[in-house]
Amino acid sequence: MHAELICFERSCRARYAITAVLYNCPQCGGLLEATYTGTMPAAEDLKRTWRARRLDNSPLEQSGVWRYRELFPFLDDYRHVVTLREGNTPLLDAPIAARYGGLGRLTFKHQGFNPTGSFKDNGMTCGAAQAVRLKMQRVACVSTGNTSASMAAYAAAAGLQPVIFIPHGNISYGKLAQALEYGARTLQVEANFDQILALVRVLAERLGIYLLNSINPFRIEGQKSIMVELMDQRDWRVPDWVVLPGGNLGNTSAFGKALREMKALGLIDRLPRLAVVQAEGSAPFYDLMRQPGGARLRAVGHPETLATAIKIGDPVSWPKAIEEVTASGGVVEKATEQEIADAKAQIGLCGIGCEPASAATLAGIRKLVAAGTIDRDADVVAVLTGNVLKDPDYIYRYHTGQLKDPHGETLASTYGNQPIVVPNDPDRIAALLG
Ligand code: F0G
Repeated sequence: MHAELICFERSCRARYAITAVLYNCPQCGGLLEATYTGTMPAAEDLKRTWRARRLDNSPLEQSGVWRYRELFPFLDDYRHVVTLREGNTPLLDAPIAARYGGLGRLTFKHQGFNPTGSFKDNGMTCGAAQAVRLKMQRVACVSTGNTSASMAAYAAAAGLQPVIFIPHGNISYGKLAQALEYGARTLQVEANFDQILALVRVLAERLGIYLLNSINPFRIEGQKSIMVELMDQRDWRVPDWVVLPGGNLGNTSAFGKALREMKALGLIDRLPRLAVVQAEGSAPFYDLMRQPGGARLRAVGHPETLATAIKIGDPVSWPKAIEEVTASGGVVEKATEQEIADAKAQIGLCGIGCEPASAATLAGIRKLVAAGTIDRDADVVAVLTGNVLKDPDYIYRYHTGQLKDPHGETLASTYGNQPIVVPNDPDRIAALLG
């Protein structure tokens, strides 16, 4: 297969070498994506090959990303691959959450089972492999916490030096702790995510550092594997809906691209509809979808949400995301802080758990079912993007009635579960539990 980078803008479509260090089209400024030409194996052969690889113990085949490499053949040498055995994330039935959402049945694809606890690992293994191939020494990203945790781990594993930029005071300690533990040079900038992204782009160019934000097309290629693995796990039965949280909109772009490509190859016979859910205080994509066609995204200057992973006011991948959501017949919803917090507690009661941004999915499903957009009998998969332990502070505050929204208002501890302090006295404890 021959791989190239191509400008995503329809009016441009300029092409560049797959080894060019570019994040935007030099001609028009558009987003770039990887594109491939050549003959692909038949769909049935691909399905058989991918299934057989699950029994192979080599690191490449044990990776739930690289196992599907025929769908993102951008490397010419798989010795560049850096894998922590990412992907391989489960599909979990969640009856309590289904009932809460108003559905007969709901399945979660839980990306929090990844090595660093989020879906970023699916993309980072590809981004890191490309960095190694390009003989880069340093890699950088701005992050609301998960990208930085993931990049730090993969860079460390690959022998690259990670430099991360995070908004000071606005990421959870679980995520910050990971970056420190994996040895990343960590800069806490006194600015928000969107401002820091602009800063990092300038610095990456000036210092020759390889940028591993989701604007990097190879990250998107890796995140496609989430949809491929999902379909493989479902024996290629396409769900009616795939629901995911939206922040910088890299994942929305990756899922849409994967689904279109799988359909074009005959791996699936139709597209599921994408439902993207944003937090109400950081919902520029929700607003954009309500504008007439051809409108441009209007950034939210001061994005706010306790779901810090999706606290992004100016998502870079919106031009891709809008095309993907539209092509799938999808929708964009938004959820309040209270709705996200309560949905999260319900996911917890399934024995599953997730971080706040991930719970936006269930909060959105509940609203979309109530509005009649999602049918009660629909076959729905929601993608939980991050692990429950990413943000324990939020959980403790919710369950003890101390969780305050960004305006300082205390949220209701609707499904709260207070820990109880007891004396070291068997009689009194027995009486309490009796
Ligand atoms: N869920 C979680 C847990 C995330 O960490 C992110 C993004 C999203 C959802 C949104 O995904 O940006 O592809 O729309 N986190 C990024 C970060 C921005 O820096 O870790 P998206």
